[in-house]
Amino acid sequence: MSTTIGEQRARQGATLTDHRCRICGGELHEVFDLGRQPVSNAFAKPEDADKVPFFRLAVGACTSCTMVQQLDTVPPYEMYRADYPYRASGSLLIRRHFEDVARHIIETCPGGRDGFVVEIGSNDGVMLKTLSEAGMRHLGVDPAASAGEVARSHGVNVRTDFFNAETAADIYSEHGHANLIFSANTFSHISYLDSIFEGVGTLLAPDGLFVFEDRSLADILRHNYFDQIYDEHIYLFSVSSVQAMAAHFGFELVDAEHLPLHGGSIRYTVARRGALEPSPAVEKFVAQEKADGLAEKEEAAFVRFSSDVNRIKTDLVSLLHDIRSEGRRVVGYGATSRSATVLNYCGIGADLLPLVCDSTPEKQGRVTPGSKIPVCPPDAFTDPYPDYALLFAWNHAEEIMAKERLFQEKGGRWILYVPEVHTI
Ligand code: TMP
Ligand code: ZN
Repeated sequence: MSTTIGEQRARQGATLTDHRCRICGGELHEVFDLGRQPVSNAFAKPEDADKVPFFRLAVGACTSCTMVQQLDTVPPYEMYRADYPYRASGSLLIRRHFEDVARHIIETCPGGRDGFVVEIGSNDGVMLKTLSEAGMRHLGVDPAASAGEVARSHGVNVRTDFFNAETAADIYSEHGHANLIFSANTFSHISYLDSIFEGVGTLLAPDGLFVFEDRSLADILRHNYFDQIYDEHIYLFSVSSVQAMAAHFGFELVDAEHLPLHGGSIRYTVARRGALEPSPAVEKFVAQEKADGLAEKEEAAFVRFSSDVNRIKTDLVSLLHDIRSEGRRVVGYGATSRSATVLNYCGIGADLLPLVCDSTPEKQGRVTPGSKIPVCPPDAFTDPYPDYALLFAWNHAEEIMAKERLFQEKGGRWILYVPEVHTI
């Protein structure tokens, strides 16, 4: 795996063992530990499988602002290399979601159709493509060069870069204010949010909106989505912690909306302090999070979660052992980033799961990080069908099960491991 992204810039904000809250400097108390884990998207060629970097995956909650976050920070240049394989357009559901987001932005962007929209973490342009087709001024900012190339081939303007205070100032001097800054499933990946907010402060128009979507901590805990915890997810946002974070950086959380995506996400809308009256939805979420023990007593919520996750590990490994001893075939479906946590936490290797199929060409022919299971194209699933398929891409379950109806019709069974191990 080659590194073409400037290490100097990529290192920004990367402290390896800083156990203070990255947002407010408060004290972090550890709430959950998944042990040593590899970089989740380090799908290496088989001969490079032992070169994949490992780190400690443990999360803590801030005793002051409640932000749940990883204790250690993996340097961004280890996670987002030039050959970073994740492609947001891999799923129909995701493509539809971002087309809807784009249409919503076109209709509601402050500044109207002449508005300028900046996306932080534009990946392969799945959202901006629709804005570009509508003729709207836009710019995607993303350090992953290969994903940016795909976006450009769809007519999307991309700056291959990390978004931070410095690049935001540069964008402002070239393009002027942004009326809307959008980000999906990226913001929680960035350790140096102080620099991001400084950049948003420079770039955003006085009445502009900063809108971002991310997985919700409440859903992660409620449904035992322990695999949502991996290197890239530095923060596990809740409405309470995002509200505190926005205030800390001189902004205000003015709206929050629950989305069904990725097992449960929230769309946060942030404005400059005092620019807009916050929607009652914000306080409703905060009250619910207090009642669920997420805003003050995270530790108790995580104790129950840890014990459930431990049971998932025991049940999943025991099921895979049974399948092997019965001489039946099982394959993994979807070499997701999340699968790295499941496979490495449960100690599952190619002896229990001989292959994982995935539609992403960039992952095929490589092995899963740490667990070293070969990643094969989708025809490895159909030819012939296995007896069982372990569904790592559970967030796309409906789409995948519909597409692979024949598998179940021929007697195949899906294995799901959240909220508990079960077969369908
Ligand atoms: P994600 O959950 O992080 O979006 O990753 C989903 C992974 O699953 C991605 O590597 C693509 C893969 N995938 C398939 O192999 N087949 C499918 O039908 C879908 C929807 C995803
Ligand atoms: Zn804090």
